[in-house]
Amino acid sequence: MQMAAVLVYLTVIAAALASAFGAELTADYYSETCPHALTTIKLLVGAAILREPRMGASLVRLHFHDCFVNGCDGSILLDDTDDMIGEKTAKPNNNSVRGYDVIDTIKSALNTVCLGNVVSCADIVAVAARDSIVALGGTSYDVLLGRRDATTASIDDANNDIPTPFMDLPALLANFESHGLSLHDLVVLSGGHTLGYSRCLFFRNRLYNETDKLDPAYSASLDERCPPSGDDDALSALDDTPTTVDADYYQGLMQGRALLHSDQQLYQGGGGDADDLVKYYGENPSKFWEDFGGAMVKMGSLSPLTGDQGEVRKNCRVVNQ
Ligand code: HEM
Ligand SMILES: *[C@@H]1O[C@H](CO)[C@@H](O)[C@H](O)[C@H]1NC(C)=O
Ligand SMILES: *[C@@H]1O[C@H](CO)[C@@H](O)[C@H](O)[C@H]1NC(C)=O
Repeated sequence: MQMAAVLVYLTVIAAALASAFGAELTADYYSETCPHALTTIKLLVGAAILREPRMGASLVRLHFHDCFVNGCDGSILLDDTDDMIGEKTAKPNNNSVRGYDVIDTIKSALNTVCLGNVVSCADIVAVAARDSIVALGGTSYDVLLGRRDATTASIDDANNDIPTPFMDLPALLANFESHGLSLHDLVVLSGGHTLGYSRCLFFRNRLYNETDKLDPAYSASLDERCPPSGDDDALSALDDTPTTVDADYYQGLMQGRALLHSDQQLYQGGGGDADDLVKYYGENPSKFWEDFGGAMVKMGSLSPLTGDQGEVRKNCRVVNQ
């Protein structure tokens, strides 16, 4: 056999083995098929954040909301069709999740840079989340790749599977455990709230009905922005430094300065396991920088489609024809 034929033969065998044994995600998945994929994503994420620093937060959250609904499969990116109402208008996402346009821009750039449709939308979202974290001061980590894209999405699953800011600790933990994640993962991943903003709608009840669990100076600073009624969309930062990845989020929780009810649930001052974890990260910021990436990799590995499951979408908003 000629060399080229041997290579083709080996590649076919490798692909067959990978799909037979359930392919694993790998960091170098695109190193042969699109060597410039990762640098391209990084560049475009950087540009998007320069244009609007909040976009980094939005891209991190996009990955979370993708992964928590039937795994990290790009399902959140699908637009509604005549036959399917997707995840975009589900309660936790509607008017709230952002960054779809940035993913579109990256996808179309990659279709050019890779000379074809190579990089899955689910992988783009995972890499964009990591690049956002790094651009805003977090520690880098290797993103595992090789996810394939879903061909369906479900509004009901999005409504059921994403935790709400009105949950108490047991419900938050039950939700994370239903995704194979632990209390430790809950506390570290909630550190995602070191970035970004929430609308008044989601913290109004805490602001006016939980005054006993809220730092008075902090509460006073929020009142103006989030009145008892109206201004549902008014934004407040989730921690003191909403465009920097740091442990201020945990320090805020220890001072009764959590914006969301669900965040304050992680630190209630009674000395429980969650309290201890919050205290640990608040007092050892370097540990948060160290552990956040590992927790993101774990979240990013939730039931991916691999091998010949799903597809690589040409356009992240629609299933291939
Ligand atoms: C533990 C359960 C969680 C709950 C209940 C929750 C809830 C929320 C809510 C209500 C908002 C504000 C949305 C809006 O105002 O429209 C928000 C924003 C955000 N969440 Fe979470 N979240 C959780 C976990 C996470 C995780 C695990 C991450 C990432 C690792 C994350 C990352 C973010 C980011 C970055 C924002 C700001 C987005 C922006 O400014 O565009 N959240 N979250
Ligand atoms: C989504 O938000 C838009 C704009 O606020 C609103 O008009 C629409 O009714 C919402 N859809 C659902 C399903 O809640
Ligand atoms: C405070 O709680 C009461 C009773 O549950 C509720 O009716 C009211 O709407 C809440 N206030 C705000 C501002 O959310």
